[in-house]
Amino acid sequence: MRSYFQFGVNCVTLLSLCFLFQYVGSLPSNMSAGRNGKVVVCYVGTWATYRPGKGAFNIDSIDPSLCSHLVYSFAGLDATNWKLKSLDPYNDLEENFGKGSYKKMTALKAANPHLKVTLAVGGWNEGSANYSEMAADQKKRSSFIASAIETIKKHDFDGFDLDWEFPTKRGGRPEDRENFIALLKDLRAALKPHGYILTAAISAGIETLKSGYKLKEVGDLLDYVHLMCYDYRGSWDSTTGANSPLGPVTDPLTVKSSVSFVLANGIPARKLVLGLPTYGRTFILETPPAEGEKRNLGERSKTGAGFQGPFTRTDGFMGYNELCLELKSSNWTVYWDDASSTPFAVNGDKVISFDNAKSIQLKTQYAMDQDLAGVLIWSMDTDDFHGDCSRPGDSDPKYPLLKTINDAILQGSLSPNNKSPNSSSAIDSCLFAILTALLISLKF
Ligand SMILES: *[C@@H]1O[C@H](CO)[C@@H](O)[C@H](O)[C@H]1NC(C)=O
Ligand SMILES: *[C@@H]1O[C@H](CO)[C@@H](O)[C@H](O)[C@H]1NC(C)=O
Ligand SMILES: *[C@@H]1O[C@H](CO)[C@@H](O)[C@H](O)[C@H]1NC(C)=O
Ligand SMILES: *[C@@H]1O[C@H](CO)[C@@H](O)[C@H](O)[C@H]1NC(C)=O
Repeated sequence: MRSYFQFGVNCVTLLSLCFLFQYVGSLPSNMSAGRNGKVVVCYVGTWATYRPGKGAFNIDSIDPSLCSHLVYSFAGLDATNWKLKSLDPYNDLEENFGKGSYKKMTALKAANPHLKVTLAVGGWNEGSANYSEMAADQKKRSSFIASAIETIKKHDFDGFDLDWEFPTKRGGRPEDRENFIALLKDLRAALKPHGYILTAAISAGIETLKSGYKLKEVGDLLDYVHLMCYDYRGSWDSTTGANSPLGPVTDPLTVKSSVSFVLANGIPARKLVLGLPTYGRTFILETPPAEGEKRNLGERSKTGAGFQGPFTRTDGFMGYNELCLELKSSNWTVYWDDASSTPFAVNGDKVISFDNAKSIQLKTQYAMDQDLAGVLIWSMDTDDFHGDCSRPGDSDPKYPLLKTINDAILQGSLSPNNKSPNSSSAIDSCLFAILTALLISLKF
């Protein structure tokens, strides 16, 4: 009985909250910059300069007209002195005949006055443990922040993007949840007098969101919250699945669930930036089904056994620029998965789940329907930046995914419906709230 009562109470609370957030999220905002007041945040993985052949991506490859923000990825943390450090001095810096990519990227602002360029610190390879240790100690935080400001100032960046992946995980500790906020508070206080932007990339996994972040405070302290809505499924799983499934909201491992969760837990829509992948995840099937059989995501795959593309050369991962060439060059069949609103491709025992213009359009439209701040891509260097996958006669072939985003933002934020809650997405959020309430009440 008690659980039914609690279920009722939770339901009412969450439903009210969810409608409240729908309303608050629909208020006009003047925080944003960029197309129609929406941001298009373009991460650049600067090590892409070392990729072979047409995979090599340099600062010159950037088309700044397609982004409101560029994010230089990544700088690191030196755990011997707790200072920000360049992870690739030859590429980043000018000293010792370096290529000076920090300066080259910020120099793009001269001809593109709309553009902001920030420096991201962290990323997957940097892990979590050293950030955990730094965030736990006021002196180490100060040292890190002072050196970050020095680097930002010296190279003319507009701000700082914290990419600690992830608090409380991967060698982190339970106190990270508290210390992440302490770090953001110190960063905010130190950056503010300079007018620098402060953003952070956070996990889209609900379990990590719960353990790692006090979301209300995160929302208060940041200018924008970058929600990394990809890597939901990949070759680490034992079945194939979508890298970035839009829905359904009844599945916790989807974009709609992640967005609904952070909105319901205190991140304002006007600060939330939806992260989209310009890459796919690859799988090898246990047993390829017979020719002509109907194909779906969710078939059994060999755990840990993805294959790689010729540019990024990383098992389980393929840039859009690699996979679009691969799909053209051999016998792939491309299917559309209705449940996730994404495409996947099959060739023998190989499967690629990915995003194309259509799925990117749908996700951007969803961000506009929710009146989010905008979208981000990970990353600019794996869009088809040469336009090699264009159709004959295409006059504007470069960056098809990023251009799709820009177009969808123009259309989405111009539509008169945009400023009022979209009824179907309101229903989604409320459905999500009911399911959450059900789950919570079952725990009691
Ligand atoms: C938004 O605009 C209002 C009114 O012009 C102004 O008072 C407020 O400071 C602005 N907010 C931001 C974050 O710029
Ligand atoms: C953390 O810092 C230690 C000490 O400087 C270093 O050896 C280690 O590589 C760092 N961890 C990562 C994941 O970079
Ligand atoms: C593609 O399929 C056709 C017919 O099924 C076959 O003749 C051809 O060799 C295949 N090409 C490749 C690259 O596998
Ligand atoms: C609401 O959003 C859905 C997809 O998110 C779309 O299909 C529908 O047309 C939208 N409705 C309105 C009234 O904008």
